[in-house]
Amino acid sequence: MEIQCGCGLGCVEKSDTILKGIKEITSPCENCSDPNLKKFKPLTEQIDVEKLDANYGRCTCKKRHLDLVMGHVLKILIESGDRDKKSTLRNCCTPLITPAYPSNTAPYLSDNSVVILTDKITKESAFRIVDEVPEIKGVIKGNIKNVVGIKDANSEPNVYELLSGCDMRCDIVSTRNGPLCIYRNQSQIHLEFSKPVSPKVQILEKYLDKYENPSIMDCTCGPGTLGIAALKYGAKHVVFNDLWRPSIEMTVLNLEVNGFEVEVLHSNGSLVAEGKNFRVYCADLMELKDDIDEKFDLCIVDTFPGVDTDEFVEAAKHLCSEVVII
Ligand SMILES: C[S@@+](CC[C@H](N)C(=O)[O-])C[C@H]1O[C@@H](n2cnc3c(N)ncnc32)[C@H](O)[C@@H]1O
Ligand SMILES: [Zn+2]
Ligand SMILES: [Zn+2]
Repeated sequence: MEIQCGCGLGCVEKSDTILKGIKEITSPCENCSDPNLKKFKPLTEQIDVEKLDANYGRCTCKKRHLDLVMGHVLKILIESGDRDKKSTLRNCCTPLITPAYPSNTAPYLSDNSVVILTDKITKESAFRIVDEVPEIKGVIKGNIKNVVGIKDANSEPNVYELLSGCDMRCDIVSTRNGPLCIYRNQSQIHLEFSKPVSPKVQILEKYLDKYENPSIMDCTCGPGTLGIAALKYGAKHVVFNDLWRPSIEMTVLNLEVNGFEVEVLHSNGSLVAEGKNFRVYCADLMELKDDIDEKFDLCIVDTFPGVDTDEFVEAAKHLCSEVVII
């Protein structure tokens, strides 16, 4: 099945394609230069912002240092009145790079490789930014401190607002069985910053090691990271579930991106998709537990911080021998 991004611009690729040369993707070439900008000093006191355009500081390899890309964004925000003239790179906005590969050095960015997040921006400047800054593929408005999605069955959902461009981005998640590519449309799915080693995957792997060909239920799967890691590990059967429909859509997409063939079912029930050794549900775990006959070796419960896991663990206990709380 051909993988499509909702924006129609083909910004979702298969993991094999993404991972080819991933380490070089944000590395400078020998001609790339560092603008040496200070994050806490007003940008206008460091460079002539009038000159900041799409070519300013862009190397022949077409990459630019992250600070210049954000400087270009800040220039537009200052011009439109969304930031004052004393603004610094520090209070510009949060850059979410795609594909994001953990690295200790400042990234050099290619076209369409960053989604930006800020809670203070007008639609007009969001359009200008996507139009004028080649590296920016999308602008979303929202507060980074808020959970995106639904905390539990009793909470109201919260989403960010996609103001311009496309918010689909990819995180590279390392596992013992090779890296995974996990996409999220960032206005609908909660942000998780990539780390060189994913603590969640590490906990999961420790539990998987206790079993031979385990069967797994990823009870609150989000975009599918842990269940897909279990499939890569060699789990015999994996059931994915999440209450939030956008999470399930991302799980299906991420299964395909990472090389698993998925059949999407067009029924009204909670079973949304299936493949050779997995099924994907969209339901409240507390209700789904009564509809599933299978007994799993492990149930993974990964809730948002601050959510009481007791009810989740109680429901998961009906379905498995061991519950892993992540
Ligand atoms: C921290 S996220 C999971 C992240 C995921 N494990 C990952 O690593 O990508 C928590 C998830 O729990 C889901 N959730 C909240 N209440 C739920 C419920 N009652 N039943 C099923 N899923 C639920 C949310 O929609 C959210 O996607
Ligand atoms: Zn897109
Ligand atoms: Zn270069």
